[in-house]
Amino acid sequence: MNVLLTGAAGGIGREVAIRLAEHGARLALVDRNADALNALAADIVAAGGKAHALPADLLDADARAALPARAEAALGQIDVLLNLAGLLSFTPFEDEDPARMEMLLKLNLLTPMDLTRLLLPAMKARGAGHIVNVGSTFGSIGFAYFGAYSASKFGLRGFSEALRRELRETGIQVTYIAPRAVKTPLNTAAIYRMAQAVKMNMDTPEWVADRIVDAVLKQAKDAYLGFPESLFVRINAILPRLVDSALRGQNRDMEKFARESD
Ligand SMILES: NC(=O)c1ccc[n+]([C@@H]2O[C@H](COP(=O)([O-])OP(=O)(O)OC[C@H]3O[C@@H](n4cnc5c(N)ncnc54)[C@H](OP(=O)(O)O)[C@@H]3O)[C@@H](O)[C@H]2O)c1
Repeated sequence: MNVLLTGAAGGIGREVAIRLAEHGARLALVDRNADALNALAADIVAAGGKAHALPADLLDADARAALPARAEAALGQIDVLLNLAGLLSFTPFEDEDPARMEMLLKLNLLTPMDLTRLLLPAMKARGAGHIVNVGSTFGSIGFAYFGAYSASKFGLRGFSEALRRELRETGIQVTYIAPRAVKTPLNTAAIYRMAQAVKMNMDTPEWVADRIVDAVLKQAKDAYLGFPESLFVRINAILPRLVDSALRGQNRDMEKFARESD
């Protein structure tokens, strides 16, 4: 199984890469931090796995367009596209920096869509392939002060659902995975303080990576990680007013942290 993994040098990405390699996957690792990526690829190869570092800025359309050929040159056909690279923003929406908002939507939503578009023709020609998109609980429950991030992950969930239905008879699988909060550098110090204050559950990247790899290997349609968040996702879909009330107190507590700058 040849996997193109974005966000490979990140908190979850590194753990996913190591586990996929242990399961025999051959990896094209993509991230913008070339040093971290090269070190990860070297670790995987030293442990007997197969990995190639393909540093790229995913916000650059030309760099995205070049990725399938670079990955195929390193590995041969790409069986799995695992879209993991992401960016977060935690702020009152009126304070959102428009440049950051654009970057966030590009990285979290348009990049997975574009990479999918670029890899689909070869997958369709083979009648096989797998697109895996990593969203978030915030892609099913809109959280105050995470407006741009929630919008990007709602979009990614919608894209994944539409694509899964569109590709139903092509042999190509689509998986959408929604972790709850995870202890990685994605979250700022203010988010950690907020999470502690409102008692938000946070998983380790190792635990989340186990679940992501499991969903990839099983070609699951979707996976909502963590209880009770996976239940809240369902309740919010059916009874959103109930969740409005449940979150009212927490929203007030979150505001103070959202106004902090670090
Ligand atoms: N952590 C959580 O609480 C959480 C919860 C639910 C879902 N998720 C999702 O899980 C995914 C991985 O998150 P994570 O926690 O592992 O985050 P992370 O540790 O910040 O890793 C993300 C990686 O993406 C890289 N990246 C950022 N911009 C890029 C660009 N323009 N081109 C190429 N690479 C770029 C980052 O590089 P830099 O370090 O240089 O920025 C970083 O290595 C994201 O999609 C996130 O939304 C995370």
